[in-house]
Amino acid sequence: MGRKVGIWMYQNGGGDIIEKKLVKKLKKRGIKAVTGINLRNAVVKKGHILHGETKVDKLDLFFSYNAGEQTQYQVYLYKALNRVIPTINSYESFALTEDKFQTAYILKQNGIPTPEFFLCHRDDTKHLEKIIKKWKKMVYKPTDGWGGVGLTKIDGSETLKMLMPFLNYADLRYFYVEKFVKYDNTDFRVDIVDGKFVSCYGRKAGKDDWRTNVTSGGSVFLREPNDEVINLAIKAAKVCGTDIAGVDIIYDLEREEYVVLEVNGIPAFATPEQEKLGLDFNDRKIDLIVDLIDRKTKEKK
Ligand SMILES: Nc1ncnc2c1ncn2[C@@H]1O[C@H](COP(=O)(O)OP(=O)(O)O)[C@@H](O)[C@H]1O
Ligand SMILES: [Mg+2]
Repeated sequence: MGRKVGIWMYQNGGGDIIEKKLVKKLKKRGIKAVTGINLRNAVVKKGHILHGETKVDKLDLFFSYNAGEQTQYQVYLYKALNRVIPTINSYESFALTEDKFQTAYILKQNGIPTPEFFLCHRDDTKHLEKIIKKWKKMVYKPTDGWGGVGLTKIDGSETLKMLMPFLNYADLRYFYVEKFVKYDNTDFRVDIVDGKFVSCYGRKAGKDDWRTNVTSGGSVFLREPNDEVINLAIKAAKVCGTDIAGVDIIYDLEREEYVVLEVNGIPAFATPEQEKLGLDFNDRKIDLIVDLIDRKTKEKK
């Protein structure tokens, strides 16, 4: 029997076009792709994960590439599915990169430079006050956020005091904060697939913001990486176990070294508008993903 894989891919921002190319290239390798496998609509019956007529756990691989629409139910099934068939990314690395603290912790443990970070129980505000005195400026980060949403710059004890009632009101289990890194308000987004460098582009924060995310007013620009940036991204992707990764890197002006801000498990392809700007990595990225799916499904057979 031929190989068959399931795909759940984002459709906005040119995702639909990418998906078509991917399906076509897989077909050339003799791999059939079933698209639109949204686990939100799946049920588990008679011991199988069913999506319409498809027994998802009988597929040779599941490619999950939709960051924006992931619900708890989907993630729950993703976890179960990954026990039975290969998934890209693996559930473990997906779950890891969804959490900024867990990611920073494992990066640091493996000798990869990150911003200094601190985690404490929500009641341990004394500790937090000590840290702000030491660091002067810090960033409060929701561990599961994206697009710069919820990141809050705290520039001294006064600001922290003002913010505490809000943070307490938010009913958090813990506080995760990072030392505010002095940098030039630009970053590197480095895409890695299967341990190989795919592409690099830069983002620059808008003039009234310190965050480079496009959703926070940042803009994308062409940027050549150096070997240090590439190797750092490859190492970070490896430590996180991600087959596909988009690594965010900035240059710390005080420490005079590059630091990894986060590893994204579902980094977007270049949108049609960004392609016009000259971001031309989509085809190479698709090819590397096809190679990866080809190899993983062969291994399984
Ligand atoms: N410790 C930090 N110091 C200074 N700026 C930061 C720090 N952490 C994040 N930023 C800025 O905020 C942006 C978003 O942070 P990031 O950790 O990548 O989360 P997100 O998932 O929201 O993109 C970064 O691109 C960077 O511009
Ligand atoms: Mg980011």
